[in-house]
Amino acid sequence: MPIISYQEKDFQQKIKKVGEYLQNGAVVAFPTETVYGLGASLFQESAIQKVFQVKGRPNDNPLIVHIYSVDQIEELTARPPAVALKLIDHFWPGPLTLVLPKTKVVPNIATAGGQTVALRMPSHPVAQQLLQAAEVPVVAPSANLSGKPSATTAQHVWDDFRDQIDYIIDGGPSQLGVESTVLDLTTSQPTLLRSGGISVEQIETVIGPINVSERESITGTPVKSPGQKYRHYAPQANICIIDDVTELKKHNANQQLPDSTALILTNYSKTKDSITIPAKWKVYRFSDLNELSANLYHIFRECDRVGIKQIYFQKVEESNFGRAIMDRVIRASKK
Ligand code: TXA
Ligand code: MG
Repeated sequence: MPIISYQEKDFQQKIKKVGEYLQNGAVVAFPTETVYGLGASLFQESAIQKVFQVKGRPNDNPLIVHIYSVDQIEELTARPPAVALKLIDHFWPGPLTLVLPKTKVVPNIATAGGQTVALRMPSHPVAQQLLQAAEVPVVAPSANLSGKPSATTAQHVWDDFRDQIDYIIDGGPSQLGVESTVLDLTTSQPTLLRSGGISVEQIETVIGPINVSERESITGTPVKSPGQKYRHYAPQANICIIDDVTELKKHNANQQLPDSTALILTNYSKTKDSITIPAKWKVYRFSDLNELSANLYHIFRECDRVGIKQIYFQKVEESNFGRAIMDRVIRASKK
C-alpha cells in the first residue's frame, strides 16, 4: 500500500489523484493538526463500512464529517444556529467539531443511525488539499485500531493497518497530538462532548457558558457521544496518575517497582529528583503542555513497543489545554 509523503517532488499531482480515488471509494489515511484520520467519502457506503471494519470500531459510534469549505455546510445541516456561525467564524479551520442536526444527504451509516452530524474543518494544509481534491465530505475517525492510542505519524498508521487500507498520506507529525473538541449544538445550552484542541475557556469567551458534562461519561452515566463510553487511547501498560514523583516512595514501600516502568513528568514537579530513578526506567520530561500533548500518544505507543508494564503520569492542571490531556490519560488508565 503506497505511502505518499508531502516531501515528494510531485506531491501536488499525487494528492490530486488520491483525492479522486477517495471520492471513488478508496480508504485513505491523512494528517490533520490533531491526529491522523482514516478517511472515506461520505457517499461511498462500502468504504465507510471498511473504515469501521479495519478499526474494529463498534457500529454505534458515529463518525466526524470533514469539510474544506463553509459552502459544504448547507448540504449537511439545514439552517445552522447563530451560535454555530459564531464558532465557525472564530475557530475554523481548526480543532473544533460541531454536532448539528443532519440533512437527508448524510447517510445513516456515518451517524450510526442518529439524527445529528458532527462537522469539522481541519486546518492542516495537507488535509485541506486532500479534501479539496476529493470534492466530497469525508468521514474520518482517528486512524488507529479501536481502543488504542491515536496515530500522530504516518508510521503509527502503518503499524496499525499495514496493507488493509489503500493509501497513507504522510504530512509529518501532528502538531497538537490530541483530538478535536466535540461540542453539541443541538441541546438548549451547547454541551461539551469531548475536550480537545480548542479549550472550554476559548469557546466560552466567544459564546458564553457551555454545559461541561463530558467527565460523566467516564463514570458510566448515559452518554450522548457514543465514542466516550469506550475505554480509549490506551497502551498495554497500567497507568497510574501521581501528583509528584515523591509519591513513588509510597508505591515502592510495598513492592519492588519493576524495571519496565516509564515516568512522564512535567516541569510542575516541585521535588523532581527526590527519589532515585532507576536507570532502567524510561523518563519523559516536558516543559509545557503543548510539548506533552504532541508526544503523548507517541509515548504510549513506544511504551507498548518496548514492553513497559507500568506508567506513572504526573498530573497537570485540568484547565485550558490541560483538560484534554487529563481526559485522555484518565480514560487510558481505566481497565
Ligand atoms: O481530531 C479529531 O476529531 C480526529 C481527526 C481525524 O479529525 N477525529 C476523531 O474521530 O477523533 P473519532 O472517530 O476518533 O472520534 C470522534 C468522536 C467520537 O467520540 C464520536 O462518538 C463523536 O466524536 N461523534 C461523532 N459524531 C457524533 C455525533 N453525531 N454526535 C455525538 N458525537 C459524535
Ligand atoms: Mg478515536
